[in-house]
Amino acid sequence: MSSCAKWNDDYSLGIKAIDDQHKMLFEMINKLCSVLEKDVTPRTFNGKVVLDKITEEILDEMSEYASNHFFLEESYFQEFHYEKTEEHMAQHELFRLKIHSLREELEKGNENVAFETLSFLSNWFVRHILHYDREYVECFHKHGL
Ligand SMILES: [Fe+2]
Ligand SMILES: [Fe+2]
Repeated sequence: MSSCAKWNDDYSLGIKAIDDQHKMLFEMINKLCSVLEKDVTPRTFNGKVVLDKITEEILDEMSEYASNHFFLEESYFQEFHYEKTEEHMAQHELFRLKIHSLREELEKGNENVAFETLSFLSNWFVRHILHYDREYVECFHKHGL
């Protein structure tokens, strides 16, 4: 998947509440991607480099996404006794840890954090949403979702 891409119905799991949240992650990817595609000069805003500010916003959105979205998936895992709960939750934990380390890098002044965040999110989309999340669909459908 190229980093700036259009949402495609093939990405849907067919469970609306979950697809809507996945679309939010997709929007984060596109927001960051469109900024990085422009030639961003280090203009400052409130004493911070603009790109850093946008990256910080994306990291905040990722934290919120992690709380809301992982909570939703994990609640269903518990409710439906999903067999891959543990390994799936471990993946979610990696996402949270990554946000933490990206924040640290940003604070240290690492200039590649925006690119790193974008590549992490794009890979997450392909490896997690299109792979791990797909695996629970059958179980969720069986339970009426
Ligand atoms: Fe998900
Ligand atoms: Fe997930």
